[in-house]
Amino acid sequence: MEADLERILFDEATIHRRLDELAAQISSDYRGRELTVIAILNGSVILMADLLRRLPMPLKLDCLSVASYHGGSKTTGELVFRQLWMPDIAGRHVLLLDDILDSGVTLATIREKIESIEPGPQSVRICVLLEKTKTRLRHVDADYVGFQIGDEFVVGYGLDYMERYRNLPCIGVLKKDLIVAAV
Ligand code: IMP
Ligand code: MG
Repeated sequence: MEADLERILFDEATIHRRLDELAAQISSDYRGRELTVIAILNGSVILMADLLRRLPMPLKLDCLSVASYHGGSKTTGELVFRQLWMPDIAGRHVLLLDDILDSGVTLATIREKIESIEPGPQSVRICVLLEKTKTRLRHVDADYVGFQIGDEFVVGYGLDYMERYRNLPCIGVLKKDLIVAAV
């Protein structure tokens, strides 16, 4: 799989060191409050497992399954929710967890949906491992960001291309010739 990368951006040790820092910041910000972490599937599974084990506090975990790419490498701008029920977030401190903030469509749509539930959450914050520095289709502010990257297509550590590469321990830029030209 590594041979399919143009270059590695973050190796496993670098990611884990950054997770230590993020976990310390989150634990300190939520001291004395109980979190509901909502992990957005499938991209955040590896991050979820590694980050949550670094949080030494009581929390509840829920997952949301959404799709926006439908197989390609560019968002369609339309988000499909794959489950019938939304997590129970009444009065909770919600932390949305996703792999990457790209166009902003996913997190803006989910945040809107979570905030429209009655009775609503006490607070909603966003944690992403990666944030692409670019103009977004929807404005979203992430409260916790692992790393900022340029506008390149990356895979590994949960991030996929057509559902592959999620199990790569590092994060890297996928070789351009492996990305099927969008039609
Ligand atoms: P959005 O464009 O901010 O809505 O991001 C939607 C989803 O697209 C993210 O949760 C990722 O799963 C996926 N995504 C965005 N950029 C990349 C990338 O560079 N590599 C792999 N997946 C990506
Ligand atoms: Mg994806």
